[in-house]
Amino acid sequence: MALGLFAAAALAAVASLAAHVALNCPIEPVPSTPPPPTPPPNNLLQRLEKLGEGVLDAPEDVYVDAAAGGALYTATRDGWLHRMHPGNGSWERWRFVGGAGLLGITPSADGTMLVCDADKGLLRVGEDGVTLLASEVDGTPIRFADAAIEASDGTVYFSDASARFGFDRWFHDFFESGATGRLLRYDPRTGHTSVVLDHLGFANGVALPRDEASVVVCESSRFRCMKVWLKGEKAGQAETFIDKLPGCPDNIRLGSDGYFWIALIQMRSPWLDLITRWTLAKRVVATFPALVEWSKSTMKGAMVAQVSEGGDIVRVLDDSQGKVINFVTSVNEFNGDIFLGSLATNFIGKLSLAQVTQEQGAASERRFIPE
Ligand SMILES: *[C@@H]1O[C@H](CO)[C@@H](O)[C@H](O)[C@H]1NC(C)=O
Repeated sequence: MALGLFAAAALAAVASLAAHVALNCPIEPVPSTPPPPTPPPNNLLQRLEKLGEGVLDAPEDVYVDAAAGGALYTATRDGWLHRMHPGNGSWERWRFVGGAGLLGITPSADGTMLVCDADKGLLRVGEDGVTLLASEVDGTPIRFADAAIEASDGTVYFSDASARFGFDRWFHDFFESGATGRLLRYDPRTGHTSVVLDHLGFANGVALPRDEASVVVCESSRFRCMKVWLKGEKAGQAETFIDKLPGCPDNIRLGSDGYFWIALIQMRSPWLDLITRWTLAKRVVATFPALVEWSKSTMKGAMVAQVSEGGDIVRVLDDSQGKVINFVTSVNEFNGDIFLGSLATNFIGKLSLAQVTQEQGAASERRFIPE
């Protein structure tokens, strides 16, 4: 009898949980791309120097102005674009945009800054204010403007991470794995925005190689970056630029040597690796906000990779347990240093590549090539 009552109570609890999930789950999950293997940790990112500590609230992207001797720019959660003077290292609040969703920043040839506001779209920020360049494409809203780059002919390529969730619910998009991101093109001559490539798994960083013969866009939830040819006989065609990355690619930037630097978010933990194997488990977790927050808190670590023009990993630097920096979202090389942005810090990280190369030793320099 007691056992029967217990079984009935357990069944009722399971049925009520199932009903709650069925009614309230915010996602329609498909299977996640299994995470590729990661190289052994080297923790070289732990040697970074902290710039602007305490002044910068979650500086997602960082841009270094080489022409201005290495002036640094970043956009933070308080709606400001901040600038660091290279001469004395002092930070100033440079331009105010507003909102909590400022992500990618990139310079425009006319001296203004192009800014991706996840909540509003593509913005141009100049001395005389903020102009909204694009908030929709083909009649659909740009839900999650993320990163941009301007080509030498003035065309702006930028990403819309997800058609399903905004910046405040980016984790839901990762759980859902629905591939609704897009690479977009803004033409400053006509003011028209069009779709270059769609069905991307969280469209994130965008970069142009030196010859601008193609444009690269990263798909965070698929551990890869695609490239779309802009010139030549393959113009308009898309192909894989690099895949099986040892982390989810976020921002990508061209270095002074023609190689790219890619920030690789570590969306890994034993818990996340386990639950993302089953769509049902993703469905249950996504239903409970506290469980979503806790799942996010299990992620630890930071990683960046240098990648050749041909799409081969040249080196990987990490802080495997996130002792000094976590959740690095951007990496920018200038004059032998790399500068790191993150959504989990209140500083920009600066690391001398010469110093880490010396410490690694020429012979043991890490060369990680995924199979
Ligand atoms: C740093 O340099 C900039 C540009 O030269 C200057 O405007 C600023 O006042 C300086 N800040 C400090 C604290 O010296």
